[in-house]
Amino acid sequence: MVLRKTLTDAEITEQRELIAGVFKMTLHAPEIARTAKPGNFLQVKAAKANTLLRRPLGIADAEGDNISLIYRKIGKGTAELAELQQGDIVSILGALGNSFDESFKNPLLVGGGMGLSPLLFYAQAHKNAAVLMGGRTSSEIFWEDIFKPFAKEIFIATEDGSKGEKGFNVALLPKLLKSGKYDGVIACGPDPMMKKAVDIAREYSVPVEVSLERRMGCGLGACLSCAIDTANGRKKVCKDGPVFKGEEVFF
Ligand code: FES
Repeated sequence: MVLRKTLTDAEITEQRELIAGVFKMTLHAPEIARTAKPGNFLQVKAAKANTLLRRPLGIADAEGDNISLIYRKIGKGTAELAELQQGDIVSILGALGNSFDESFKNPLLVGGGMGLSPLLFYAQAHKNAAVLMGGRTSSEIFWEDIFKPFAKEIFIATEDGSKGEKGFNVALLPKLLKSGKYDGVIACGPDPMMKKAVDIAREYSVPVEVSLERRMGCGLGACLSCAIDTANGRKKVCKDGPVFKGEEVFF
């Protein structure tokens, strides 16, 4: 599918800090909201930014004329975004990239940390997805309430055991896939988590997709800053991805 890319200024309709350092920004962007698919991302910066580079952020949901982004304040670009308030303007380029396979009947979404953001859009659009989420501690599982209206089932693991099972979320994956209930796995999060998810899904012969996060300059396939080697040759994460089949990626 050919996506329409829009460079536009969008007004912030809401900006909320969900937990310390993690924000949800909702933007009035009717054209993108209508055409975006789960897995797509935007290149974003504050309209009056001091930084030149845009930050790639996966779309977390699209509803009516609005889209939302959930992001962690981790560098200069996201720090500038976090300063903004309702009514301020951001410059966005998008929707960019390819999208997840939505043809699975019973997909299992496997997400860790901010990787749960694009999976939220998938759960919202698909309406029959289960989610296996992980984080270091219970406060990072604020995602549970956000996913509840859309997810069929939610499974949780935390590294310190403060919520759900103790350990990494992927440790629960063999048991879930063994049940035979799921016909596809979609993973997004830290590379080691995705690698493990791919290995386990392949072991159980369940198709698996991953969404990669890489540094991006242009977001349009021109600068090569996001190039990676895959089983199918050199690919650009911004244009050929960010979604790849699990078996294609060298983690
Ligand atoms: Fe420039 Fe991908 S970000 S080619």
